[in-house]
Amino acid sequence: MADSKTTTAVADTNESQIAVHWKEEATYKPSAKFVAQANLTDPSVNERFAEKNFPQCFEEYADMLTWYKRWDKVLDTNDPPFWKWFVGGKINASYNCVDRNLEKYKNKAALICVGEPEDEDPVTITYQELYVRVNEFAALLRDFAGLKAGDRVTIHMPMVAELPITMLACARLGVIHSVVFGGFSGEACGLRAADSGSNVLIYMDGYYRSGKMIDHKAAAELAVAASEKEGQTIDKILVWRRHPGKYCSATPMVKGRDFFVDEILGNYRGKRVDPVPMDAEAPLFLMYTSGTTGKPKGCQHRTGGYLAYVTGTSKYIQDIHPTDVYWCMADIGWITGHSYIVYGPLALAATSVIYEGVPTYPDAGRVWRIAERLDVNIFHTSPTAIRMLRKAGPEEPKKYHYHFKHMTTVGEPIEPAVWQWYYHEVGKGEAVIVDTWWQTENGGFLCSTKPAIDQMKPGSAGPGVPGIYPVIYDEEGKEVPAGSGRAGNICIRNPWPGIFQTIWGDRERFVRQYYSKYTKNKQSKDWRDWPYFAADGAVLAKDGYFRILGRVDDVINVAGHRLGTKELESACLTVAEVAEAAVVPVVDEVKGRVPEIYIALKPGYAPTKEITDRVIATIETMIGKIARPRQVHIVPDMPKTRSGKIMRRVLAAISNTLDTGDITTLANPDIVEQIRQHVQGKEKVAVKEGPEDLKQFGKEE
Ligand code: WTA
Repeated sequence: MADSKTTTAVADTNESQIAVHWKEEATYKPSAKFVAQANLTDPSVNERFAEKNFPQCFEEYADMLTWYKRWDKVLDTNDPPFWKWFVGGKINASYNCVDRNLEKYKNKAALICVGEPEDEDPVTITYQELYVRVNEFAALLRDFAGLKAGDRVTIHMPMVAELPITMLACARLGVIHSVVFGGFSGEACGLRAADSGSNVLIYMDGYYRSGKMIDHKAAAELAVAASEKEGQTIDKILVWRRHPGKYCSATPMVKGRDFFVDEILGNYRGKRVDPVPMDAEAPLFLMYTSGTTGKPKGCQHRTGGYLAYVTGTSKYIQDIHPTDVYWCMADIGWITGHSYIVYGPLALAATSVIYEGVPTYPDAGRVWRIAERLDVNIFHTSPTAIRMLRKAGPEEPKKYHYHFKHMTTVGEPIEPAVWQWYYHEVGKGEAVIVDTWWQTENGGFLCSTKPAIDQMKPGSAGPGVPGIYPVIYDEEGKEVPAGSGRAGNICIRNPWPGIFQTIWGDRERFVRQYYSKYTKNKQSKDWRDWPYFAADGAVLAKDGYFRILGRVDDVINVAGHRLGTKELESACLTVAEVAEAAVVPVVDEVKGRVPEIYIALKPGYAPTKEITDRVIATIETMIGKIARPRQVHIVPDMPKTRSGKIMRRVLAAISNTLDTGDITTLANPDIVEQIRQHVQGKEKVAVKEGPEDLKQFGKEE
C-alpha cells in the first residue's frame, strides 16, 4: 500500500476505501496439554451461541451464577437501544464473588497481593478472609458513611487489596461504585465524582511506585475542590492507610470530613451485612472513559448481565478454573481490571493476583519472579507492557521457572513481532494466547479466539466470541465483505449482556454516539435494526478473523489507555496565554501512541519555555501523568479550513512525518510549511507510510 495514492488518503479518503495489505500470518495451534484441561473444548459452542439461539444462548452464562430469583425474560427490547437483560432476576454481585465460594474454597487464596517493595512478602487473602473484610467494610459504609443501594461513591485508589474489598463492599449494599484510575489526577477524580453525584470519596494515603512512596491523599484535596466547583459537595473522605496506623501522606486530615478506615473499622469487627438482592438491571458500577467531547462519560454497567457476561467469558476465553493462579497486570481502575481481575475471576473462585507497582521495578525480571514465586499459570497484560518488558529484558523470561498455560493481550493492536516474543519467550511456546478486543462500554470481550478450539493468528483478535456477531460497515452502511482487504467500521449486530446500560445522566449521547450512525429504523423494537458502533477501524480476513486497526474518533490510545484529544485541549486552554490548542497522536515504539500538542498564543505573547512547561504541568494536574505530551509546539497559527476549523490531520501528519495530503483548500496553506520547519527542521524529510489509525485521524474535520 506504499504508493502515493494511499498516502494522500489522509486528506480525503474514508476508512472504507482504505485497502489494507498485510502479510497473512501463519497460525498456531493450542497444545494438546492445554486442550486436555480446558473449560471449553466442545465446538458445539458455535451452534449453541448461533443467531438462531439468541438471546437464550446467554442463559448459559447467567446459569453460572447464583440468583435469589431467576429472571422472567432474557432480553427486553422494548426501549431500544436501552436493552434490558435477565429481567425480573434478583442477584448480588458480592455474594457471587465471595459468599458462595466459602462452602468449597474458604481456605483458598482469593487474592494474592504483591507490594512493589520486593522485601515485602506477598499477602494472601483467603475467601474466608475476604468475606470478613468485605462484610466489615460494608458495615462501615452503611452505618458510618450512611450509604445505601443506588448511592454513588467515588473510589480513587492504587492496586492494593483494599480496592477490590471496597468495590465488593459497595456491591454488597447495592451502592454504585465509580473507580477512578489511581494515576489520574485529583482534579480528574473530582470532576468524575461531581458527574456521578458522589458525596463520599474513598482514598488510600499513599502507595509505592518505582521505589518511591507516592503521596496520594494529596489528590483528595484537589478532588474536593474540583467537585465543589461543579456544585457537588464531598462530605466524607474515607482514607485507607498503606501501612495501617502510620499515615504516609503529608496532607493534613480535615476534621469531621476525613477518617482513617483502620481506626473506625474496629467498631465493625465481626459485623456481617446481608447482601442486598438487587434487580438484575440495577447499576453495579460506573466507569468513566474518554470520547469525542471534552467531558468523560460515565459508562453505567448493570448487575446481572454484566456479571454473567464476565463470568462466562472468564471461564471460556480466559479458561479460569478455581485451581488456577491468575494474574492480570492491568489496573483495577480500568475496565479490564473490573471485569478480569475482580468480578470474573472471583465469581469463578479463582486466585487473582494484584501487583502494586511498576512491572520493571527494580529490574526487568520482576514480573517473571512474581510469576515464579506465586506459580502463576494464567497471565494477562497489554501490548505496551509486553513491548516494555521485551525492550528492558528480552532474555529475562527464560531465567525463571514459571509456566503459563494461557496468556491474554488486550487494549491495543499487537504487532506480529511482539506477539511472537510473547508466545516464544514469555509463554515458552507452551501457552496459548488470546488477543481480546473490547471496550469500556462493552463489559467483556467481543472478539477473541476460543483458546482450545480456534487457532491463534498473530496480530488478529479473531472472530466474535460466543454470542457476538460483529460486522464491518463502510460509511454508507454497506457491509464490507470478508477477504476484501478493505477496512471499515467494526460494529456488533446484536445486544449482549455485558453492554453498558447508558451514559450516566446522558441517554441522548448514548444513542447518538453508539447507535445513530447505523440504525436502520429508529422506531424499530427489533434489535437487528440497532447495530452497535464501536468507533474502531477493522479488517475482516477470509477466515473470519478480525484485525483491529484502532480508533476512528478523537481518542488517542496511549499505552492501552484512552485519552480524549478534546479533554487535553480543554486543559491547554486553561493556560492564560493559550488561544488555541490541538492535540494529535504520535507513534511511540513502546506506548503505541502518545499525544503531541500544538498551541497558538493570544496576541501580545511570545513563545517561552515557561509557557510550554506550564501547559505540561496543567495537563498533569487536570488529567494525570499518563497524558503527558511528548512535545508542545508553539506555532504562529493553526492550519485551518475556510470555516475556521483546525485541521488536526495536517498537524498529525507533520508530527509523524507523513504526507500532509491536499492542503490547497485551507484558509492559510502557507502555515503548513512554517509549522513543518518548526517541527522537522528546515531540510525536507522524506515522508513515511503511516499506520491506519493515523490516516483516519481528524478525517471528519
Ligand atoms: C483498543 C479496553 C486492538 C480499541 C478493554 C478499543 C484494542 C479501545 C484491543 C478500548 C485489541 C482494545 N486489539 N485494539 N485486542 N483491545 N483495543 O475502553 O481501539 O480502555 O476501542 O477498553 O482499545 O479501550 P478501553
